Amino acid sequence: MDLRIPLSDLDYGPEEENAALDVIRRRWLTMGSVTQEFERAFSDFVGVKHAWAVSNGTQALHLACLAVGIGPGDEVIVPSLTFVATANAVLYTGADVRFADIISASDLNVSPDEIVKQITPRTKAILVVHYGGYPCRMPEIMEIARRHHLAVIEDAAHAPGATLEGRALGTWGDVGCFSFFSNKNLATGEGGMVVTNRDDIAEVTKTLRSHGMTTLTWDRHRGHAHTYDVVALGYNYRMDEIRAALGLVQLRKLAGNNARRSAIARRYREGLRNPSLSGIEVPFGDARGMPAHHIFPILLPGGVDRDAFMDAMRKAGVQTSIHYPPIHRFTYYLQRAPEVSLPITEAVASREVTLPLYPMLRDEDTSYILSVLCEALTSARTASCGPASTRS
Ligand SMILES: Cc1ncc(COP(=O)(O)O)c(C=O)c1O
Repeated sequence: MDLRIPLSDLDYGPEEENAALDVIRRRWLTMGSVTQEFERAFSDFVGVKHAWAVSNGTQALHLACLAVGIGPGDEVIVPSLTFVATANAVLYTGADVRFADIISASDLNVSPDEIVKQITPRTKAILVVHYGGYPCRMPEIMEIARRHHLAVIEDAAHAPGATLEGRALGTWGDVGCFSFFSNKNLATGEGGMVVTNRDDIAEVTKTLRSHGMTTLTWDRHRGHAHTYDVVALGYNYRMDEIRAALGLVQLRKLAGNNARRSAIARRYREGLRNPSLSGIEVPFGDARGMPAHHIFPILLPGGVDRDAFMDAMRKAGVQTSIHYPPIHRFTYYLQRAPEVSLPITEAVASREVTLPLYPMLRDEDTSYILSVLCEALTSARTASCGPASTRS
């Protein structure tokens, strides 16, 4: 079936094409000067001392966990309403996760009070996720971390360009992690970044990213070194030059694209006030700071069959999604810890549907989505549709 409106779409054009072509013509493909330029530009953009590019956001999280010293026997507190990579990255280190519930149906971020309840003598760190690019309650979370001597890792995969109290998300904790996966606000296909103001974390991240080697192929190519030592068991988590070049172009577009995302989110919110859509809850109505508006989640009213609703949207040509099936309910995680119960996460996750949101989404597209949303809601329960307020 043809999709009229996908869930997300790239803002890619001649600039990205030329940037990739330039790299190919310069004949140096792996981590080199373009990657370094991307790292510099990204660290300037978020206002942080160190930024290391990696091949994806999952690797960024894995390195961040290792760099703050997480390992076997430790526990890390994470939300469950996130992509599975957040928790997987902790398990890769041999540590265990403890899931904390979210705040409420209007704030889908992890609850500081629930974080406190999960602290044990084994807790080493808090790994927060800025869901949808909406800032977590960072001042409170940092205070909890200080009180209990815990590290704070930010999964800012959804949040490039978002700020809280004027400070970029990803720079509040000890270390921040970004993803540049295809559907992200800054997209390079696959890609990620680790950012930190701490020199010790930066050093470990840089070393582990490339097999624990003391010099890189790029250093040797430039004659800066002839050989290398291996000082730790590291990984090949390097970024390549083509993706760094794409990242540089996308970074230049990011502020404008985030502003456009914000305008689309506002338009959705206005349209969703239509009485015919009553019962739909729209989280983050009074979001803190300046969000990155990565996704637009809504919560369906009780008595609506979500599958039927999503099928009806798809039949109308609109792709929707679910963010997220909670991690603690996945078979693998259930086998590890069947007793975990997170009432708010579970209630929200069963009602959540994500609407399309990307910078190229036109006003007439949001109007169309709002009008078919009303019809889809009606077909998934019994109610009547009035005119959608932002219909153009
Ligand atoms: C919240 C969150 N964390 C981590 C990741 C992992 O990033 P990547 O897909 O780049 O490995 C993603 C993205 O897919 C994500 O949405």
